[in-house]
Amino acid sequence: MKIINEKKENVLRFGFHGEKEGYDSGVYFLKLPATAEEARRKGAEAVSVMEKVKAKEGFAPTSELGPLARYFVEGVLLADYKFASRRKGEEEKTLYVDYSQNLEELEQIKEAVFFARDIINEAPSIMNPEEFSKRALTLEDFGLEVFIGDPKWMKEEGFFGTLAVGRGSEIKPRVVLVKYTPLNPKGKIALIGKGITFDSGGLNLKPSKAIKGMHMDMAGAGAVLATMKLLPALEPEFEVLGIMPLAENLPSASSYKPGDIIEMANGKTVEVDNTDAEGRLALADALIYAEKHGADVIVDLATLTGAAVVALGELLAALYTPSDQEASQFLKASDKTGEMLWRMPLVKEYEDELKSSRADIKNAGYKRNGGSIMAALFLKEFVSRENWVHLDIAGPAMIEKPFYYMPAGATGFGVRLLIEYLRGKR
Ligand code: BES
Ligand code: MN
Ligand code: ZN
Repeated sequence: MKIINEKKENVLRFGFHGEKEGYDSGVYFLKLPATAEEARRKGAEAVSVMEKVKAKEGFAPTSELGPLARYFVEGVLLADYKFASRRKGEEEKTLYVDYSQNLEELEQIKEAVFFARDIINEAPSIMNPEEFSKRALTLEDFGLEVFIGDPKWMKEEGFFGTLAVGRGSEIKPRVVLVKYTPLNPKGKIALIGKGITFDSGGLNLKPSKAIKGMHMDMAGAGAVLATMKLLPALEPEFEVLGIMPLAENLPSASSYKPGDIIEMANGKTVEVDNTDAEGRLALADALIYAEKHGADVIVDLATLTGAAVVALGELLAALYTPSDQEASQFLKASDKTGEMLWRMPLVKEYEDELKSSRADIKNAGYKRNGGSIMAALFLKEFVSRENWVHLDIAGPAMIEKPFYYMPAGATGFGVRLLIEYLRGKR
């Protein structure tokens, strides 16, 4: 969708009204939104109307919305998404508006969210660790430093969990590092994204119903990469290091096995109880790496557990952090962007469940109870600092039915949230 600041006649005309919804003497009235989120949803409704009546152009008197105009336009932009290959050759729609603030910024945010959605929606046989690395390299054009760690580098740097997970695939694992450095950095933030480009479960193969959709198991990495892409325009005062461990989790003769014991880079040994609990192994590597490189705050995003979806459904991500301050910063950002979070507890008493008789810790093996908490507790074993935030985005990363400005499929959850969080940090 193109947004143009110009009063336009003779196109589909929208209006805002306290009560009425629908057509009245040639104008399509939308209910006047009262909150930012309502405004985004009205924006999405405007797009549906344009689609329904096949209008390529429309005009909305957004100045009537006051400060909510920004959110209306955001909703319009985010709602009008189709997967890259389906957008090709399609004539772009235009919405004329009568205000000019934030338009460039909103365009950039849209670009970042679409970049994430396109990567996450891509077929798993295409979007493998190699292809993801290629997409990451395009960030060099934006003035970011990009480094692709191959298996040899990963061995030297101690990404033993990711290497184990990726052993069953012909396409070797990688680690993508993206670095943003401002002139006088006030601190260092690490953003970690789970990048399992396909999660079959490995030798603990998932059943058909559960394997479906597992091409989006790199949604965390996709969101982090898209956020990094926007940093040169955003100019935060912090150094930001994006860390994306990438691997395919497949069953084969070379796969890692239940019962294997992995010695991680910090010396901790992990018993592989279940090869389907692979994300936490890759994340643990990245957490150790981030700590070693002196990040003041570490944030990870991961489609980590089905249990998080059971607990919170498809619209909310689970937020874990020992830090009340970080929690409130994320909840504040979430409030602004409409990407809903619910803080979950890191229950000390459950830590015993991760004990192993053959290693320091096991990657699963407890009953199904509290699965999202158990995964977070596993990660916590690999971070010593208080300033660590874990977002289990298994629910909202991908949705089955469209929801207002989120199309079915990859939503790009986390991109706007991270941007807002980084902004608040200034
Ligand atoms: N990628 C999955 C989690 C997932 C499930 C994401 C559903 C999105 C939708 C993760 O790697 C996984 O398989 N987790 C297991 C952990 C279990 C084996 C301890 C799970 O949640 O069942
Ligand atoms: Mn899995
Ligand atoms: Zn997974």
